[in-house]
Amino acid sequence: MAGVEKSLQDPKVKEFQDPRTSKGLQRIPCFQHDGLCLFVPPPEMLKGARPVDRVNSIKEAELKDDDIVICAYPKCGTHWLWEVIEMLTSGTLQHQKAVKETRMFEFLYKEGIEAVPPRRVFNTHLPLRMLPKQVVEKKIKCIQIMRNPKDTCVSYFNHCRDMAEPYNYQGDFVEFIEVFMSENVPFGSYSTYLQSWKAEVAAAPELPTLDMYYEDMKLDPVKAVKKVARFLGLASSDKFCEDVADACSFKKMKKVDQEMKSGLPIKIWADGSGGTFYRKGEIGDWKNWFTVAQSERFDIIWNKKMKDSGFEFTYSPV
Ligand code: A3P
Repeated sequence: MAGVEKSLQDPKVKEFQDPRTSKGLQRIPCFQHDGLCLFVPPPEMLKGARPVDRVNSIKEAELKDDDIVICAYPKCGTHWLWEVIEMLTSGTLQHQKAVKETRMFEFLYKEGIEAVPPRRVFNTHLPLRMLPKQVVEKKIKCIQIMRNPKDTCVSYFNHCRDMAEPYNYQGDFVEFIEVFMSENVPFGSYSTYLQSWKAEVAAAPELPTLDMYYEDMKLDPVKAVKKVARFLGLASSDKFCEDVADACSFKKMKKVDQEMKSGLPIKIWADGSGGTFYRKGEIGDWKNWFTVAQSERFDIIWNKKMKDSGFEFTYSPV
């Protein structure tokens, strides 16, 4: 991709090279910014600007007082929560025709963010420090959705493997586990993401935030929907929350995605790869991917960093 090649000449942009794949040197175009590894956006998103300037522009975006932001590491359930919030705030059971990427800070940048008509439910994988300054200034409601790191790793592997060139990951799952644990993965490591979230929210004590867990949404979707409605100050009835939970089941959302979603800002999936945001939607699929030894090693590395972090995850459906 010519535009991506040009961006790589920017001294602040460096290629992410991971020699640990069996196919040789992996060259996913990423750049380092403020301690974070980010994809170099394709030319149609860069519009001739440098990647660093594009991402920095997000900080200056003007927000509206009633904006809502979903913050999440990739593959923790952003699409699901976005659809739930869209239904709750609109008071209807209509699925959005647009994809949630049309409301994603890192796809929109400053001018795109400001152009979105109200009511606005944004989403992002960026840390709080890279979001519009007005998130903190205007005390915008933020919801963080988290998921156990092993299912997140499996889901992220499937996502990265199925992406269109030049972004597709070419190694195997075992190799990806190492990448996932490192900072050389787009949006950085999940553990660092969570630690940054905790520290940055602690430094902004007046910011209204809600922590949600993917597994809680799976195990009791109605309770989760009610929790979100309460946080948003909505007077949604019990019956409406039940209907929203049902309309946003994995099966229904997958069907809607196949039948009526449109408007992805860029080509995300490789031709014929079967890439999808609605893969399995389960708790514990990681058991089909990790060997016992790999799982134990993962636990050791994860716990070393996250033992006292306060984040507690559910790893199996029972
Ligand atoms: P899997 O790859 O494990 O299936 P994100 O939206 O943050 O990209 O997360 C995608 C993950 O959420 C995928 O996980 C996807 O299947 C799952 N997902 C999407 N919609 C869901 C729903 N309604 N219920 C449960 N899981 C859902």
